[in-house]
Amino acid sequence: MEPAVAVRAARGREDYDACVGLQHEVWGLSDLEITSAIQLIATVHAGGLLLLAEVAGEGIVGFSYGFAAWSDGAAHLHSDMLAVLPAWRGQGVGVRLKWAQREAVLARGLGLVTWTFDPMRAKNARLNLRHLGAIAREFLPDLYGRTSSALHHGLATDRLLARWQLRSPRVRRAAAGHALEAPSAGSARLNDVRLRGGQPVSSDPRFDGDARRLLLLVPSEWDAVCRADLGLAREWQSVVRRSFEAAFAHGYAATDVATLPDAACVAYVLEKLTPSPSRRAAPGRKTTRSRTPRRASRAGRRGAARAGRGKR
Ligand SMILES: CC(C)(COP(=O)(O)OP(=O)(O)OC[C@H]1O[C@@H](n2cnc3c(N)ncnc32)[C@H](O)[C@@H]1OP(=O)(O)O)[C@@H](O)C(=O)NCCC(=O)NCCS
Repeated sequence: MEPAVAVRAARGREDYDACVGLQHEVWGLSDLEITSAIQLIATVHAGGLLLLAEVAGEGIVGFSYGFAAWSDGAAHLHSDMLAVLPAWRGQGVGVRLKWAQREAVLARGLGLVTWTFDPMRAKNARLNLRHLGAIAREFLPDLYGRTSSALHHGLATDRLLARWQLRSPRVRRAAAGHALEAPSAGSARLNDVRLRGGQPVSSDPRFDGDARRLLLLVPSEWDAVCRADLGLAREWQSVVRRSFEAAFAHGYAATDVATLPDAACVAYVLEKLTPSPSRRAAPGRKTTRSRTPRRASRAGRRGAARAGRGKR
């Protein structure tokens, strides 16, 4: 029988030091790019949240870390890191840390958690959108610049912003263990994929702003693509960036990740949701997000033009 995993808040310096060690192990970051114990302590003290997954006799095997954040005139938690040691993955530890994070944030009277994730990491996307019920409607190109993390392969750090509306019916259903409905077979595809040397290669994206639901295919195993051919990985990033930018400019949101008969790829499901109140981007921040319908028509045309342009 597997040892029990307990989830609890960080207490003392040892706990924070353990999270520094986990960052090294999980991301392989250089010392300069690690979030230090001091920084973790300061931001938790100021309203952040560090939850640990602990196994008796083993120590800390995972953590979730978020700091106090502000957007659209309201406080929320921005969840900066979620990490589980490789030996403990696939056993529900990451999901437990997220649901515990939801409870703690709700107990503070807040209703939103955000975080960023690499759109090319299909498993992670599935965890965020399908299992947790977050949605994404904002694309952040090369958010962190090039990093020392082995997980980033020296590539641009494009990110989707996940919005986890903790009291939404969608998240309540996910919290109760109800799976999202599978997307209808009639969804329009943004791209086609063929295999080249065993790796998936995408067509240029073609954007249909009238479809109710769109599918964007991405590789199932991103690390395998990166290891096989970094040039191909960059082509994929370009296809995915142009597709999300065009779709978000037209008011779509990424709501799910669907499996496909061809296991080389999975598909993001993009749906038109009721427009959220118009929000302004922070000064100097590069971002593409869903807009109100009126603004979508102009920005969307630009996005669609970009999506149709350029090499794969
Ligand atoms: C992402 C991560 C925290 C998931 O932790 P976990 O304990 O394995 O997750 P759980 O067992 O609770 O949930 C499993 C689900 O997460 C998905 N998942 C996401 N990333 C995964 C990964 N790298 N390895 C295995 N499963 C992963 C699984 O596909 C699974 O969904 P499925 O049942 O549909 O297949 C962990 O894989 C990790 O530390 N990855 C490296 C760091 C990272 O990418 N963090 C997130 C961005 S900050």
